[in-house]
Amino acid sequence: MTAGRPLPHDSAALHVSGAARYVDDIPLPANALHLAFGLSPEAHGRLRGLDLDAVRQAAGVIAVFTAEDLRFANDVSPSVHDEPLLAEAEVFYHGQPIFLVAATSHRAARKAAKLAKIDVDPLPAIVTIDQALSADSRFEDGPVIWQNGDVDNALARAAQVIEGSVELGGQEHFYLEGQASAALPQDDGDMVVHSSTQHPTEIQHKVAEALGLPMHAVRVETRRMGGGFGGKESQGNALAVACAVAAQATGRPCKMRYDRDDDMVITGKRHDFRIGYRIGVDGTGRLLAADFTHLVRCGWAQDLSLPVADRAMLHADNAYHIPVMRIESHRLKTNTASATAFRGFGGPQGMFGIERALDHVAHVLRMDPVDLRRRNFYSGPGAPRQHTHYGMEVEDFDLRPMVSALLQRSDYATRRASVDQWNRENAVLKKGLALSPVKFGISFTLTHLNQAGALVHVYQDGSVAMNHGGTEMGQGLNQKVAQVAARIFGIGPDRVRITATDTAKVPNTSATAASSGSDLNGMAVKAACETIKSRLVQHLCKKFSVSDKEIRFEDGKVKVCDQVFSFADVVQAAYLARISLSATGYYRTPKLSWDRVKGRGRPFFYFAYGVAATEAVVDTLTGESRILRADILHDAGASLNPALDIGQVEGGYVQGAGWLTMEELLWDDDGRLLTHAPATYKIPTARDAPEVFNVALWDGENREETIYRSKAVGEPPFMLGISAFLALSDAVSACGPGYADLDAPATAERILAAINRVRA
Ligand code: MTE
Ligand code: MOS
Repeated sequence: MTAGRPLPHDSAALHVSGAARYVDDIPLPANALHLAFGLSPEAHGRLRGLDLDAVRQAAGVIAVFTAEDLRFANDVSPSVHDEPLLAEAEVFYHGQPIFLVAATSHRAARKAAKLAKIDVDPLPAIVTIDQALSADSRFEDGPVIWQNGDVDNALARAAQVIEGSVELGGQEHFYLEGQASAALPQDDGDMVVHSSTQHPTEIQHKVAEALGLPMHAVRVETRRMGGGFGGKESQGNALAVACAVAAQATGRPCKMRYDRDDDMVITGKRHDFRIGYRIGVDGTGRLLAADFTHLVRCGWAQDLSLPVADRAMLHADNAYHIPVMRIESHRLKTNTASATAFRGFGGPQGMFGIERALDHVAHVLRMDPVDLRRRNFYSGPGAPRQHTHYGMEVEDFDLRPMVSALLQRSDYATRRASVDQWNRENAVLKKGLALSPVKFGISFTLTHLNQAGALVHVYQDGSVAMNHGGTEMGQGLNQKVAQVAARIFGIGPDRVRITATDTAKVPNTSATAASSGSDLNGMAVKAACETIKSRLVQHLCKKFSVSDKEIRFEDGKVKVCDQVFSFADVVQAAYLARISLSATGYYRTPKLSWDRVKGRGRPFFYFAYGVAATEAVVDTLTGESRILRADILHDAGASLNPALDIGQVEGGYVQGAGWLTMEELLWDDDGRLLTHAPATYKIPTARDAPEVFNVALWDGENREETIYRSKAVGEPPFMLGISAFLALSDAVSACGPGYADLDAPATAERILAAINRVRA
């Protein structure tokens, strides 16, 4: 069976040999222009004067554009039209694009952009969460509040209430391929755009608006991205629109790619949060009530912040049944780059809140943290069903057996004892061990996005060309979906050609996001293939006077009773009999109903689960830390491709651990990003992955009817990295009687400060 096999990524050989083509590798005509933005030197201010004479006169410059030169629309927002491509009267963050240079080379454009005289009258800049709160600077009129029961009453009746607050940093996407786009003018004003985007339809939409064209005049193509991680859901809009506008004005192909530093300064990152919590427990450690406050730093424009903040609220329970819950979410507007989607889309922040709170509760109650967690898990199959705080029934809670299995496989109890013994015997190096679960909701919370289309052609020689609305960013979506097509036709995946995502082939697509790529597009491709297959079957039934039950497609052959034909021969015969060999496919996710204003309903089709145990060590003299070992059990349902899924789990874990342990974003008081290059922003390398790294997939099936009962796997494993943070907290707690009260990322400085606190 082809679907389910651990085949390599379709582009693996191209990736490792450097032959995979990205936007910047596409050869352009010799007259192509290269673009660069001129950026705001202030975080907030009124634009008093803009002297671009030197820019216009610089070598190689062909055209310069400001907001006034934009003929149709000046907006690259994916949501509420609050994000001009080029600043108008006011600038809102340091690094905001103000003007656009088109020149004969990338270098010439960048050099020229630096020659502008930009006169900004500074206004007070709101940079931090505290500044935003005291200025009441926010999107929406006030906080969004979801309540399930009377939390004050429940807390008053609790045996103990544990209170705290934790700072949680943002994260730079650090995709290997920076943002890039190219626009090529066509016949009669049409535009073709190549974009490194997770969302070709959104690029098409924004480009069409900016050019004053209907969407059918714009075609967007995306072959692959060198990583997206959510950072290419909306952040590619500016480059694509800039290219298209410049291409329309000059009649020449235009390309733009951000230099790494510019990419880090201009584009949005993961939202940083401050999370306040009050947790009420009974004498046995059972959770009675939880009250969370999410202070979310959203940056200057709305972008995707509201759904990101919603998803944080939706994951505030993680895997635990909390009978009474209140969450207050403040979406704060600041003069910083507009924070955006990042793997997990707010889910990780919400989940971190409860995991960190439980760490605190376990410390106060002197309870084993694993016992505390298991005591509060949702009930599993068989027991009376429970509901989340937003009213969704938890039907498929698999974590109880998964956690038991992981405790055993990782030899947890023995290692717990040896870590404790190590800590009694060693004063300088302290070890920590922690386990954390993941329950992550799968589906877009904006219900209409849960749809997808596909286009499949079978050619006369029996080769198949497959297209769908999803985009490839390294996660292996195309390979998985090709395996689906191969399985239906009973042919080898080498017979299925994966083609670039193209808005002219499949229209009105959703972003490849919310981990739904293979769920949605796999089903759409399946539908298209089944349409073609059923035409072939019908044709064979007639021709051989057999019933469809006597026809099988397998091993590249078609078996009709006891006759065997090659798939290619059957296709050829069908073509000659004038049978259509091309079909579209369509899918929409069932069972969803969600009221985002009330915060109630069923936003998710199902949940994906995972559990990780991490052992780490801390140097109490320097604060440095290291992950020694991680054991993971992750639920990918009946995996479409276990090799790719394990890759997603490993990568997700390391990226999640990086977020919480070493990746630190710093801004100065004036709102300037200080960590804008790999020299100052530290991402995990291969050396930071756990020395012992045992990753396995849970052997199960999705209870819901997804593509071959698989589960989405793109984002959920990211949150397994929380166990690395908790292991560090555990190690710090071994230094003294106090609670570590660690903020994230747990850098050396924060770990040292925490050690001093627990000793005090
Ligand atoms: N894996 C790789 N290698 N590169 C990426 O950019 N993005 C992640 C995840 N895994 C990403 C990745 C994010 S944020 C999402 S939403 C999913 O992949 C999207 O792809 P899928 O829906 O096909 O899983
Ligand atoms: Mo992923 S953050 O949903 O692109």
